[in-house]
Amino acid sequence: MEGNIIYESKRKIVYRDGDKAIKTYNDTYALSQILNEALNQAKVSEEGISVPKVYEVKRYNGRYGIVMDYIDGDNLETIVSKNVNGAEKYIDIFANTYHNLVQNNNLNLNNSYGRIKNKIFASELPANIKYGLFYKLREMEFSRDIIHGDYSFSNLVITKEGKPVIFDWGHVAYGAKQFDIAITYALFELQDRKDLGELYLSKMKDLDGIDREQVLKVLILAYIYIVDRYDEPTRKNIYNRIYEILKSEEA
Ligand SMILES: Nc1ncnc2c1ncn2[C@@H]1O[C@H](COP(=O)(O)OP(=O)(O)OP(=O)(O)O)[C@@H](O)[C@H]1O
Ligand SMILES: [Mg+2]
Repeated sequence: MEGNIIYESKRKIVYRDGDKAIKTYNDTYALSQILNEALNQAKVSEEGISVPKVYEVKRYNGRYGIVMDYIDGDNLETIVSKNVNGAEKYIDIFANTYHNLVQNNNLNLNNSYGRIKNKIFASELPANIKYGLFYKLREMEFSRDIIHGDYSFSNLVITKEGKPVIFDWGHVAYGAKQFDIAITYALFELQDRKDLGELYLSKMKDLDGIDREQVLKVLILAYIYIVDRYDEPTRKNIYNRIYEILKSEEA
């Protein structure tokens, strides 16, 4: 086998091969999805956004893989787990990096609106609720913000030189930044780190003027957007959370 495994999950294996990392996918991924992730990553890289530079997509150890620069560093999840009291400082870096990212609107990306709509109608919710959510989507103000779609502590790596590098470009699109902030908030909630989610919201209010209410208004759409990435029992947790939000909105 070529390269050393540096990360392994159910559907992905990341290898290191010299100064390159190769992110490989199992066959539940269509080639078009992998090419799309590579294309998105190349686009953001060409805009000067700090991401691992992409070189090619090729077969590697029997799977399709994206070949990119190997980044020597730790992600914020690892860093914060070692510095329990340092979370606030890292939320600053995390929020500032996001603030710099959303300034870029010169890319040619897909729009998230259609994707959110498809996910609402593909969800396991009853038809009347789907229509309610579709209505909410139509109310959401759309801007040409770059939305990462999976911006979490695990996807921000700090290099040995202290430079933040953003990973994982499979979900990027144009959309409303309050929607992307809501995804990040949902990802913190799923990790039982609502405290960090709240800190992130207050930082984003200072940096981008997006207030908490605007974010929480679309939280349910954020959950619908991410639910199909998970297996049971997380999916079940997410649907419970969706019903909880619906109930609180009725009250
Ligand atoms: N270019 C790279 N350089 C160094 N390490 C990398 C690189 N790409 C990926 N990794 C390692 O692999 C991990 C997973 O990569 P990534 O975040 O891109 O995958 P993922 O899509 O989140 O995977 P999953 O769906 O399993 O969560 C990273 O947290 C990092 O440790
Ligand atoms: Mg990741």
